[in-house]
Amino acid sequence: MKSYNIAVIGGDGTGPEVTREAIKVLDAASQKFGLKLDYTFYDFGGDRYLRTNEILPDSAIEELRRFPAILLGAIGHPDVKPGILEKGILLRMRFEMEQYINLRPVKLFDERYCPLKDKKPEDIDFVVVRENNEGLYTGSGGFVFKGTPNEVAVQESINTRRGVERCLRYAFEYTRKRAKNNKLLLCGKTNVLTYAFDLWERTFHEIGAKEYSDITREYAHVDATTMWFVKNPEWFDVIVTDNMFGDIITDLGAMIQGGMGIAAGGNINPKGTSMFEPIGGSAPKYTGKNVINPLAAICAGQMMLDFLGETTAAKAIETAVIKAVREKLHSLAAGKMGYTTSQVGDLIASLL
Ligand code: IPM
Ligand code: MN
Repeated sequence: MKSYNIAVIGGDGTGPEVTREAIKVLDAASQKFGLKLDYTFYDFGGDRYLRTNEILPDSAIEELRRFPAILLGAIGHPDVKPGILEKGILLRMRFEMEQYINLRPVKLFDERYCPLKDKKPEDIDFVVVRENNEGLYTGSGGFVFKGTPNEVAVQESINTRRGVERCLRYAFEYTRKRAKNNKLLLCGKTNVLTYAFDLWERTFHEIGAKEYSDITREYAHVDATTMWFVKNPEWFDVIVTDNMFGDIITDLGAMIQGGMGIAAGGNINPKGTSMFEPIGGSAPKYTGKNVINPLAAICAGQMMLDFLGETTAAKAIETAVIKAVREKLHSLAAGKMGYTTSQVGDLIASLL
């Protein structure tokens, strides 16, 4: 029997509730497919910070590195100033464990959940490969003359050849492995960000021409990309982009696949510890009410199994989710599903 040690960080708000349902489904899948998942729970998040004044213990990252995968609920607490937990927990984990890819599939499971007119599941099925360790997210920058009328705030976008190249390589390999349309689109802003996206574009074509001639290379500016997400989502296969643009376009991506209730992502270190999470936030107003949609967390669990190489079990979870959203759920929105949070978990587990 194959067994895996999984770290679980429920985190803030509805994070613990949705993670619980993800584990319920993972356990049901494990039983059916002869796997064993051993969980270690960590209480990192806003409540712990407010109680102990410690964001992450120094030992945390070293400890987490011992796991092949982490399942994360949500980070963000209404009583903690924005940025502290996000930078101190989520971004720190992404950076220090070198999870340099943020993989975000955009897949519509049922047309009822799509806000776009006449778009069907076959029209919305693409993947965003978001660079996850650089760009505007490194925290590089600062203030001069802070608090005065002459104040200057600088926030720098860091793009290294090494960081850009490894992200692009991952995207090319992923496109090849996906074998759908063998099309990789670089999403950037070469007309304005003439340094950063010059590096991205040069590297893209250089390694693409040399090593990935089987993959069609395309380019679109980020503003045009958002337009086509709405107008022609069927044009996309795999999209690769920087950290900030990837953050923004994947919220739009989440909406066209049915909303934050269903959108999942993986923070991937192909050779280290990867972390899987629903991409929505901690939803404080729904906390503890048993109304939040746990499907995004369940899909994060599914991505985790897939990443661990348990592709059959992962596929079974996806099939169960598709069946549930097509035949059972009334809506994917919190409180409108026709099921409680825990009932959705039970439903998916029973459909496996
Ligand atoms: C996401 C989130 C995070 C990000 C925040 C919470 C720091 O929006 O995972 O997309 O910007 O990456
Ligand atoms: Mn985001």
